[in-house]
Amino acid sequence: MSEAKFTPRVFSGIQPSGGLTLGNYLGAIKRFVQMQDEAFETIYCMVDLHAITAKLLDPDELRRNTRELAAGFIASGISPDKSILINQSQVPEHAQLAWIFNCIARMGWMSRMTQWKDKAGKNAEAASLGLFAYPALMAADILVYHATHVPVGEDQKQHLELTRDIASKFNHDYGVDFFPITEPVIEGAATRVMSLRDGSKKMSKSDPSDASRINLTDDADAIAKKIRKAKTDPDALPSEADGLENRPEARNLVNIYAALADMSVEEVLREVGGQQFGAFKPRLAELAVEKMAPISSEMARLMDQPDEIDRILAKGAAQAREITAPILRQTYDIVGMLG
Ligand code: TYM
Repeated sequence: MSEAKFTPRVFSGIQPSGGLTLGNYLGAIKRFVQMQDEAFETIYCMVDLHAITAKLLDPDELRRNTRELAAGFIASGISPDKSILINQSQVPEHAQLAWIFNCIARMGWMSRMTQWKDKAGKNAEAASLGLFAYPALMAADILVYHATHVPVGEDQKQHLELTRDIASKFNHDYGVDFFPITEPVIEGAATRVMSLRDGSKKMSKSDPSDASRINLTDDADAIAKKIRKAKTDPDALPSEADGLENRPEARNLVNIYAALADMSVEEVLREVGGQQFGAFKPRLAELAVEKMAPISSEMARLMDQPDEIDRILAKGAAQAREITAPILRQTYDIVGMLG
């Protein structure tokens, strides 16, 4: 398939399931901001339909989470003038295309998804049908824009491979060259930010320990305290990246430093190699506060203006539908739906 046929277009999404972490910021949002200034059209989405797949949320809480996520995007530097910022349910073509993809994707593909296996756990019988179909909706989110590039953290890689499989099968089954084969963009030092309490676990909003993560709503004191308390090992930092092998906590803190400072891991280690954590942690805390605290105060300011957020999302939905409505119409024509 010729890439040139498609406008370079970026799509990515985050679930408004409550609380953004440093993992979301470094693994995804920071890259979103960079890409809006590169040669791409950029569309960023609060995926509220996905947010109810694991469990139903209190309706007021979901509305609040969605606005808070929009505030987090904007406070981090996503400009509603440069990017299209949307809430998924306000652009109905996402769910409409997802139905077609439910009929393209195979049960076997879906049951191999590790996120499904993790989230459904031992009691898959009790999981919602929406949780099982989650990756087909995600493919629709992307392909309803003919998006060519999708920036995400490492944990979304398998879902993006499935998106490519769905696009290929659709194109093959209908004998068309209609959906692009999307490129995942999983780049940088922090594609998998780990818990501050356990270097073998992903940093996550669902971890019961608040000390395991930095939240985008944490103030300067909370950020510094969590970094001071982060788990480490007794050795000094190495001067080369090889020396981080089998040292998950040390690797995680160095990766976080590198991502926040826009440096490579090698550059960071050239500066801090030989230092004990007693010296490195205050340095990391200072950097994290400098980069993250302004985001949390700007988010709080925006959250006081929910009408302004709603206005931005309504504008985004109208812009988005100019792209999605014709693509859905063409998909329906290909499939044979009367129009
Ligand atoms: P979600 O809401 O779990 O996470 C949003 C983004 O943050 C990244 N991320 C991390 N990156 C590094 N380290 C971490 N600890 C960490 N935790 C989260 C995720 O990789 C993701 O990029 N299925 C998606 C939402 C989605 C989507 C889409 C993404 C729905 N439709 C279409 C891209 C395109 C999800 O659950 O993300």
